[in-house]
Amino acid sequence: MSSLAVTDDASRAGARVGLKSDKIVINGGNPLRGRIEVRGAKNLATKAMVAALLADTPSILRDVPDISDVGVVTGMLEAYGVSVTKVAEGELRLDPSNVEKAHFAEIDALAGSSRIPILFCGPLLHRLGEALIPDLGGCRIGDRPIDFHMDALRAFGAIVDKSYEGIRLTAPDGLKGALIEFPYPSVGATEQVLLTAVLAEGVTELKNAAIEPEIMDLIAILQKMGAIIWMEPNRTIFIEGVDKLHGYNHKALFDRNEAASWASAALATDGDIYVGGAKQQELMTFLNVFRKAGGAFDIHEDGIRFYRGPGGLKPVQVETDVHPGFMTDWQQPLIVALTQATGVSFVHETVYENRFGFTDALIEMGANIEVHKDGLESITRRVPRRPLEQAAVITGPTPLHGADIRVPDLRGGFSHLIAALTAEGQSTISNVGIISRGYEHFIDKLALLGADFVYEG
Ligand code: EPZ
Repeated sequence: MSSLAVTDDASRAGARVGLKSDKIVINGGNPLRGRIEVRGAKNLATKAMVAALLADTPSILRDVPDISDVGVVTGMLEAYGVSVTKVAEGELRLDPSNVEKAHFAEIDALAGSSRIPILFCGPLLHRLGEALIPDLGGCRIGDRPIDFHMDALRAFGAIVDKSYEGIRLTAPDGLKGALIEFPYPSVGATEQVLLTAVLAEGVTELKNAAIEPEIMDLIAILQKMGAIIWMEPNRTIFIEGVDKLHGYNHKALFDRNEAASWASAALATDGDIYVGGAKQQELMTFLNVFRKAGGAFDIHEDGIRFYRGPGGLKPVQVETDVHPGFMTDWQQPLIVALTQATGVSFVHETVYENRFGFTDALIEMGANIEVHKDGLESITRRVPRRPLEQAAVITGPTPLHGADIRVPDLRGGFSHLIAALTAEGQSTISNVGIISRGYEHFIDKLALLGADFVYEG
């Protein structure tokens, strides 16, 4: 992926939510203080929108964040004839009554910006008997193969052909329930199976499924639509196919990745941020690490307040993992705070094989971070070592100073924002459009929290 293409992605993503400039200038060194709200999770809302394709009546999705990934999925759905209407702030009505084949050029233009198009396979096979999946986008944080998705679809009876346009799937004999076992509990592939099995004939048994809170919320939506889904211990999900599904009315689960990001911003800048809409249950693993790192939090009915505890920041050892482990999306913002902790922290990234690229900019800003590309052994490991994992060793505290930075990916980009806010002096961050893929109104939120910055947009 050339840096030019990343720039292109960034400006397209920003433009989708009305961002005019791709650059922000931050004067760091001031704590972030105040209250911001988080709304529905990017990684649920976008999938819930795809689920609406399975119904024969309209669905209503509430608390939908104004982020560019929602714009991409809206465009994809519209290309397939689904009418997507904003009925109130954060509320979408998705009417799939007139689903039709899309023009390839239209979906190709959108697909390059996101991973979600892969999840259209099952619903499109059910509705149209064919699915065409162009090359996928999303963050460049590793290979991000789709073999589990394709193997699962084949198990349902789909025929997968590679064409010059992308991947073409057909199901001449319809889709039938299957026994599927994943080598690894992939989030997207689990969603793929759910969205396909609900209308497939017979029972599907999925072993080694992902059980992230966003997946549980997707299951709740599918149940509202008329699906029959149950779970057994050890990551096994059963789905009994039904003949038809109707529309749902659902409020999306809050964005726990955004909440954890703002919490880390409070920790790094020695600030005090009340994250409205954040809930304890889905953040329990994060809260433990946050506390061990010297953070403090107060849990309220309508949100969580995050700040530094009295004893200063402390080093931690973290291994990213599937739920209920420490999410891979939480490590980037947290690492900025760890540069300010006294001692040596270890972060083992076990989910993606290339998710420390963002640390280059932190090192340029004065952080002491060593990335071990082949990972590190540790006697206190909780999860088995994965072949492609890496580790970051962060030694602190190190004062950070301003720099010129280019955002490489979504979570890395947010961590760059926090680093610039923590650093003394001025930083210029370009490619900030990428951040709008998953952080709603982040520029307005920075202003609400008293950040000192110039953004001409
Ligand atoms: C989802 O990605 C999220 N994206 C990611 O968030 C998140 O980091 C990830 O889950 C883990 O929680 C969305 O929900 C849109 P996976 P997904 O399939 O579904 C390997 C963000 O910033 N794998 O669980 O793509 C894969 O390479 C994004 O919000 C295969 O080998 O993640 C990776 O190593 C980034 N073959 C691991 O599994 C496959 O067919 C986990 O991926 C599929 C996955």
